Amino acid sequence: MNRKIEEIKREVQELSIKTLKELEDFRVLMLGKKGKITELFSEFKTIPNEQKKEIGKVINDLKNLAVTRIADLKDTLESSSSSIYSYDLSLPGYPSKIGSRHPISLVKEELFDIFKTLGFSVAEGPEIEDDWHVFSSLNFPEEHPARDMQDTFFIKSKPEILLRTHTSSVQIRVMENEKPPIRVICPGRVFRNEAISARAHCIFHQVEGLYVDENVSFADLKQTLLFFAQELFGKDVKIRLRPSYFPFTEPSAEMDVSCNLCGGKGCGVCKYTGWLEILGCGMVDPNVLENCNIDSKKYTGYAFGMGIERIAMLKYQVKDLRMYFENDLRFLNQFRCVL
Ligand code: DAH
Repeated sequence: MNRKIEEIKREVQELSIKTLKELEDFRVLMLGKKGKITELFSEFKTIPNEQKKEIGKVINDLKNLAVTRIADLKDTLESSSSSIYSYDLSLPGYPSKIGSRHPISLVKEELFDIFKTLGFSVAEGPEIEDDWHVFSSLNFPEEHPARDMQDTFFIKSKPEILLRTHTSSVQIRVMENEKPPIRVICPGRVFRNEAISARAHCIFHQVEGLYVDENVSFADLKQTLLFFAQELFGKDVKIRLRPSYFPFTEPSAEMDVSCNLCGGKGCGVCKYTGWLEILGCGMVDPNVLENCNIDSKKYTGYAFGMGIERIAMLKYQVKDLRMYFENDLRFLNQFRCVL
């Protein structure tokens, strides 16, 4: 019996297998119901009593040796098979599906960043507004034809409530609530009763700018707008201001930038003028300051307003306004970015 035990012990110690399947076969061979070690225990019954203590210990030790050896080999095989089969580092990674930013958000954030460096903060106001904040306070007298410049959606049961036609309403809300110095930009959605086409939409976005303090001048406005245009379109861009009319600014102007596509030489986008109109601006009319209880003898201010779609159209060469609202993934995916 001792010889048999020795043989089995050597078999266990010298065991060399390559697969989990071979290991399991070996386990059955040794410890299964009819396994070699299991059989030793049956034979044990026939051993004379005085040898039982000694041989019993040897068989038990052998069993423990086999169990530990099999468990160790199993661990080794499993960990090496997982590194070989589960983690193949040479496989290409799964692409992570990141979303894309809407071009309107991209431009809006770029505008925020530019004006932030000049000390402007962001203010927001309601989309459903009253006549006072959208028109009257901004120096549009009742029945004045200037109100027709912006075709308005009114609430049927309450004609004094309307969807704001421009974000200039937010400059009023800020001036009503804050004391100068005031330096804000006001982004938001605006609504106009326009037939939808490639060049017009009933919903679009604007950013309004407002700076009110002592001694604010038209020169400050011009320099701010030049800085803004250069940040947005590059250092070579030129600006020009043309006299214009808005009820809430005096004097008023419209700003053009040199066409970023043809560099000012003239092309289809700038209609062969070399210039692109991008915003309206001017010095805040003293009546508007007074409407907000700001002393127009002490304070002056400038304001400007621009359409975000228009800027995004120029930046990304989008030819049809409707694309911004259709949520066509082929359009949106082009603005993919790493967040
Ligand atoms: N609110 C004007 C519009 O929607 C844009 C505008 C023009 C805003 C001149 C201003 C400004 O603040 O000074 O057409």
